[in-house]
Amino acid sequence: MREKLLISTGGGDAPGLNAVIFAVVNSATRKGWEVYGSRAGYGGLLDRDDLIRLTPEDVEGILSLGGTILGSTNKGNPFAKPVENLAGEIQILDISDKILANFNRMGFFCHIAVGGDGSLEIAHRFALKGMPVIGVPKTIDNDLEATDRTFGFDTAVSTATDAIDKLHSTAKSHDRVMVVEVMGRDSGWIALYSGISGGADVILIPELPFSIDSVCDKISDNELHNKHYAIVVVAEGARVMDGEVISKGKGEIGREEVVLGGIGEWVANQIRLRLGKDTRSLVLGHLQRGGSPTTFDRLLALRYGAAAVRLAEAGTFDHMVAWVPPTMTAVPIADAIRNRKKVDLESDKVQTARDIGICLGD
Ligand code: F6P
Repeated sequence: MREKLLISTGGGDAPGLNAVIFAVVNSATRKGWEVYGSRAGYGGLLDRDDLIRLTPEDVEGILSLGGTILGSTNKGNPFAKPVENLAGEIQILDISDKILANFNRMGFFCHIAVGGDGSLEIAHRFALKGMPVIGVPKTIDNDLEATDRTFGFDTAVSTATDAIDKLHSTAKSHDRVMVVEVMGRDSGWIALYSGISGGADVILIPELPFSIDSVCDKISDNELHNKHYAIVVVAEGARVMDGEVISKGKGEIGREEVVLGGIGEWVANQIRLRLGKDTRSLVLGHLQRGGSPTTFDRLLALRYGAAAVRLAEAGTFDHMVAWVPPTMTAVPIADAIRNRKKVDLESDKVQTARDIGICLGD
């Protein structure tokens, strides 16, 4: 009998998570099911205090809120969890059996796991162990190949574009170069979309290693055309030709990905050194993950949540909901996480950037 459903949110937060929760709770409740939320990823399957019953009354008003009422973590992999032993040492343990046993004991028939590639991979590993899982694709990076869009991306782009718009006036007032570093990990979607829409002079993306000479030539060319300022948008995962991606290492214990960052400052220093031009850099950072989701992200998140409940009803487990316009469909999670979605250098968006005179650093 289908009656108890679990939902969790994992990985970095993204605007629209609460809208997914809203849709899941409302549509599942209308089918007569009970919904429970697990705090901070799998926390609710370890500690009852982290398991919360969610009714339509509990989620009223959350649809437009950023963040997630369930909390999230990117250090919560149950297959490699840092646990402190009695001697105070940190050990990495596989606690997945315990989590699966608790899931079964609590009588859930399905787990809707909302997350990016890392969280979906964990969900798939649980599916292989027998947990009936459905994935919902979340990430501001938009780097999941199986779906046209992940929710959170549109809001992040809108925040970044707004910031770039604001930089124009200060850059122009001071005849400065402003270098903006945006998120996106190994994909240049946020940089490309916000850079084109924000009227950047230069956009640097991970898919196209850049030459600093080419960046400086573009800024010098601006001067020749009586434009004494420039806006450079650089993705955190961009790298110079023959160079390495700049990172700050792994950061916290239990975190599986390196913390990217620093390329914006590097580019700014190079411009200052080579051109002697007043140059400043800023990192937009987690501003891109915050705030109320755009209408686009809300609608997408609601559609994903409702579609996930339909998959639960049909028993289509170990699948992720995917938007392949105009259809909301389902793909095996294993296929969905196989490849990261990269910017297609032959696409019309890249061509548009070139056509309107944006330098891509090549
Ligand atoms: O994957 C989403 C993302 O915001 C990336 O764009 C960024 O590199 C990373 O998460 C930052 O992670 P954290 O919140 O752990 O600093």
